[in-house]
Amino acid sequence: MPMDDFKNTLQEKKENVKNLGYLDIDLDPTLDLFKAIENLKKEKNAVVLAHYYQEPDIQDVADYIGDSLGLAQQAEKTGADMIVFAGVHFMAETAKILNPNKKVVLPDLKAGCSLSESCPPPVFKKFKEKNPAHKVISYINCSAGIKALSDVICTSSNAKYIVESFPKEQPLIFAPDKNLGAYINKQTGRDMLLWNGACMVHEIFSLEKITKLKIKHPRAKLIAHPECEDAVLRIADFIGSTTGLLNFTKKDPTAEYIVATETGILHQMMKASPEKVFIPAPPNNSCACNDCPHMKLNSLEKLYLCMEYETPEITMEESLRLAAKKPIVKMLEISKKAGL
Ligand code: 13P
Ligand code: SF4
Repeated sequence: MPMDDFKNTLQEKKENVKNLGYLDIDLDPTLDLFKAIENLKKEKNAVVLAHYYQEPDIQDVADYIGDSLGLAQQAEKTGADMIVFAGVHFMAETAKILNPNKKVVLPDLKAGCSLSESCPPPVFKKFKEKNPAHKVISYINCSAGIKALSDVICTSSNAKYIVESFPKEQPLIFAPDKNLGAYINKQTGRDMLLWNGACMVHEIFSLEKITKLKIKHPRAKLIAHPECEDAVLRIADFIGSTTGLLNFTKKDPTAEYIVATETGILHQMMKASPEKVFIPAPPNNSCACNDCPHMKLNSLEKLYLCMEYETPEITMEESLRLAAKKPIVKMLEISKKAGL
């Protein structure tokens, strides 16, 4: 294609990124994406941050793989000019909130989150107004609009510390994950008011199928993410964030685990402990619903394209960014004090 035609087509495709979520360009199938991504990292002083729920190829090209807290901490301290966020929208948005002068791109703008979507800011604002004495703790899986309405943010690995940073008598709202909120209520003896949201992936595990699997594998330990429902958490041998679960499997002497979280984490578990067996907890139907459809919208091709063409990019209004930054910074400070 002549250069001018290519430029016009590229411009049209860039304009369509908002609708499609990514740049729809056919890549040469012989292109070595791993090598090309490494070259782009150097050329653009870019860092690739990936969540454990990303597909294995993406995890393998990442400079840092982590849970939501680890990723926010990395985003806060990176010296890169461009942050390539291989995760979902709220994660990339958090990176942008912390780095207004850096370019933050993500492979697919449509990589959302059911938890985040369950909590629209205008509706949450009314809920907050009805409970004026309450302070608001929001799980990081929410939009910048919800963060701006919150006193402090938490993740699954620091939620207990964040809740305990408030005096016992302080009434609290916890949003948007009712399962994590209920789990932390139990752990801390609090009675936080819970927003009625849940993760579509962690809600799908079947207690009946897990129970049958435990009978078939009597020596296997059930390890679960706190976004799971109470019925699953009650029978779990260990509960933790994705990093918590991974670290547990590295130190624990057991040879077999039933893993009740998104399947992406199995890649690092198998890499760290190749001699162990990891069985994904089964969903309550025959679909692959323990794959997060949002996380899995990202692919290595889209990752390469977002780096090469620097789109889709996260942008936001400065007033919203500043309001959303305050509770994130508070979370990072509390986590630091807690040694997390
Ligand atoms: P963590 O990254 O805190 O383990 O949470 C998992 C998750 O659902 C991210 O979307
Ligand atoms: Fe959201 Fe659940 Fe997907 Fe995490 S796994 S991004 S909480 S839908």
